[in-house]
Amino acid sequence: MAGMSVHIRTDRLTKIYPKPGGGTLAAVDEVSMEINSGEVFAYVGPNGAGKTTTIKLLLGLTKPTSGTFEILGGDISEREIRQRIGFLPEDHNYFAYLTIETVLDFYGRLFGLIGRDRKKSIEKVLDLAGLADRRKTKVKHLSKGLQQRVGLAQSLINDPDLLLLDEPASGLDPLGQADLRKLILSLKEMGKTIFLNTHDLSDVEKIADRVGILDNGELVAVNRVADICGAKEGVIVKTEPIRDDEYLDPIRVVASKIDTRDGFTFIELDDEGKVVQLIPLLKKAQSKLISVEQQRVHLEDYFKGAVRSKGDSWVGPLPGSENDGSGGGVTG
Ligand SMILES: Nc1ncnc2c1ncn2[C@@H]1O[C@H](COP(=O)(O)OP(=O)(O)O)[C@@H](O)[C@H]1O
Ligand SMILES: [Mg+2]
Repeated sequence: MAGMSVHIRTDRLTKIYPKPGGGTLAAVDEVSMEINSGEVFAYVGPNGAGKTTTIKLLLGLTKPTSGTFEILGGDISEREIRQRIGFLPEDHNYFAYLTIETVLDFYGRLFGLIGRDRKKSIEKVLDLAGLADRRKTKVKHLSKGLQQRVGLAQSLINDPDLLLLDEPASGLDPLGQADLRKLILSLKEMGKTIFLNTHDLSDVEKIADRVGILDNGELVAVNRVADICGAKEGVIVKTEPIRDDEYLDPIRVVASKIDTRDGFTFIELDDEGKVVQLIPLLKKAQSKLISVEQQRVHLEDYFKGAVRSKGDSWVGPLPGSENDGSGGGVTG
């Protein structure tokens, strides 16, 4: 595996579409980002945020209105660059009546693999995707989860360095999703770079190294997942409600924050060790300790914060979320 390098670099990448009723829509709006080799980068946003359009731009399937990008250190129009990229489209339609093996053989030919090389590649991706014993099965007889694995196998046929996956887990049941995540992680372990479009926050938490949040075509935040989700040093102590300043004042000296709501008092301590100092103070207040929990920043709060700052509501995978009518229609 080569040392770390930048696999995708965009500079104010923009795609503007005419709107059906007149006017224009910036599907991708001055997006500048860098994706490093070997990382899983989750590109997250509600339906219609511009995720698929970004991938189409990166693959050269549509031209930017303005801005530039570099992929694998070069230009997508170069054949040698394209050969190092794998792509799993959003709504793929594998030839339902073909067997898995035939589909993979077709894609192998597309990439110009010949003879033994093609056979070897097919064996390899069948193994990787756990499909070896079903090679003769027609795609239409597979579950949605297995069809997605065929999709991944297809995207791997050329042993790409960079994979662009457009919502690979959407429409899968939890088991299918877990399965797919495991597979994506094993690809990362092989040193592949993975650009993952998703609107599912658990994808982000479970497999991504970094996350970029897209909202109305704008990249509103980029962060390391560990920095967002990582447990903070402190703890939150939940107790029976304490309302009297006589008792609260000494607690304030120890605590970094006190909040009484929903019939409880929540006491934030920046160091777990301070619980020892708190206990006698609770006793004095005749307030029973209910729980001590590690402080965590919730990914969902982070996202809501990032998107709200742009004056827009985050919809994402939450139930009852709004669809903008862009045709995706998949919400959690
Ligand atoms: N070919 C197109 N012509 C006009 N508008 C488009 C086209 N493709 C996408 N859009 C619009 O651009 C926005 C972003 O779409 P898309 O990239 O598919 O978002 P996502 O993949 O995040 O759901 C949406 O409002 C969509 O309706
Ligand atoms: Mg999409």
